[in-house]
Amino acid sequence: MTVLVTGGTGYIGSHTCIELLNANHDIVVLDNLSNSNRVVLERMEKIAQTKITFENADLRDHAALEQVFKKHKISAVIHFAGLKSVNESISEPIDYYDNNISGTIILCKVMQKFSVKKFIFSSSAVVYGNPETVPIKEDFPLSTSNPYGQSKLMTEQILNDIFISDNSWQIALLRYFNPVGAHKSGLIGEAPGGTPNNLMPYISQVAVGKLDKLHVFGGDYDTPDGTCIRDFIHVVDLAKGHVKALNYFEQNKNKDVLTLNLGTGIGYSVLELINTFQKVTDHNIAYDIVARRPGDIVISYASPELAEKTISWKAEENLEDMCRDTWRWQSQNPSGYEAT
Ligand code: NAD
Ligand code: WQD
Repeated sequence: MTVLVTGGTGYIGSHTCIELLNANHDIVVLDNLSNSNRVVLERMEKIAQTKITFENADLRDHAALEQVFKKHKISAVIHFAGLKSVNESISEPIDYYDNNISGTIILCKVMQKFSVKKFIFSSSAVVYGNPETVPIKEDFPLSTSNPYGQSKLMTEQILNDIFISDNSWQIALLRYFNPVGAHKSGLIGEAPGGTPNNLMPYISQVAVGKLDKLHVFGGDYDTPDGTCIRDFIHVVDLAKGHVKALNYFEQNKNKDVLTLNLGTGIGYSVLELINTFQKVTDHNIAYDIVARRPGDIVISYASPELAEKTISWKAEENLEDMCRDTWRWQSQNPSGYEAT
C-alpha cells in the first residue's frame, strides 16, 4: 500500500520509511524540514536504492495537504510530524499546540475527505506522567505536566473520539519510550540542532569531541546507582513496530483504537548507559553528577507484552547494539547532516 509518512525526514520517520520500503510498501514523505534536512532524503535513497517521493509541505497548510492527497493514491498515514521538546513546549506553547494539534486536525480533515482511514500516531511515554509502579502498562492512569505532553494526550483523545464517531477508521496510538540508536549503515541517525536535550545524543557528542562533558542530572535518586532509569529502544526496532501495526490493520478489523507501548521492557540507568557506551566504543565519556533536572521521572520502563500479543512485535536490539549504532552514525557524521 502507499503510506503517507508525515515528518518522514525526521529521526524516527526516516528509519520508518526504510522499514516500510523493506516491507515493499510505497511511500510518500511529507515534511516542512523545520527540524530536518533534505540530505536525509538522499541518504534514505542510498540505503533503499530507490527514488523517494517527497512533498515539502507544512501540515497546517490545508490546501497543500489536499493537493498531496489528490496527487497520490494514499491508503494509510503514519504521523510523525510535530514538535518534540518538553522544555521548548513550556516557553512556546502556542507553537506546540499549533503544530501538534492544529496540524493533526487538518490532517484528519483531509484524510476524512479522501476516505483514508488508516492512521498510526506517534505518541509517547510522556502521557504516563510519573507512574506509581513499573513496568508501565497501557491502562495505567494518564497525566502530564507540560504542553508537549498535553498535545500528545489531546491528540490521543481526538483520535479516540474520531473512532467512536466512525469505527471504519483504523487507528494506532504507539507510545514510544526512549528511542536511541541509528540505522546500521551509519547514513541516517539522530541529528538534534544545537545542544542536545536528550541523553544519548549528548553522550555521543561528548564522545566525538563536540561537547566537553556530560552533566548527569541527579545521583541521589532511590535507584540502585542513584541515577534515573529509562527504557531505551533502538529506533529500527521502533520503526518495525509501525510496519507491524500496518500489517495488523490489513489483517484485522479494529474493534477499538490500538493503544500500544513500544519499549523493550528493560530499564537501564543513566550510568549503565554511559558505561555500556564507553565499553562498546572504547571512548571515555567525561561526566559530572550535578543537581536533579526538575520534572524528571525517576523510573520509566514499558510493559511491551500487549504489543507482542497484538501485533507480534518485540524489540530485538540490546543496549550494546544501540550504543554501537549510535556511535557509527555519530563518528561518521560528527556534525549530523550539516557538513554534508
Ligand atoms: P523529529 O523532529 O526528528 O521529526 C519530526 C519531523 O516533523 C521533522 O522532520 C520536522 O521537520 C517535521 N515537522 C514538524 N512540524 C511539521 C509540520 N507542521 N509540518 C510538516 N512537517 C513538520 O522528531 P522524532 O524524534 O523523529 O519524533 C517523531 C515523532 O515521535 C514526534 O511526533 C515526537 O513527538 C514523537 N516522539 C518522539 C520521541 C523521541 O524521543 N524522539 C519519543 C516519543 C515520541
Ligand atoms: C533521560 C535521562 C535525564 C540529558 C524525554 C522527553 C520524553 C520523550 C523522550 C518524546 C534522565 C538524564 C539527560 C543530560 C542527563 N520524548 N540526562 N544528562 O527525560 O526520558 O524524556 O525524551 O516524547 O517526552 O521528556 O529523556 O534523554 O532527556 O533523559 O543526566 O544531558 O537522562 O535526567 O534521567 P526523558 P532524556
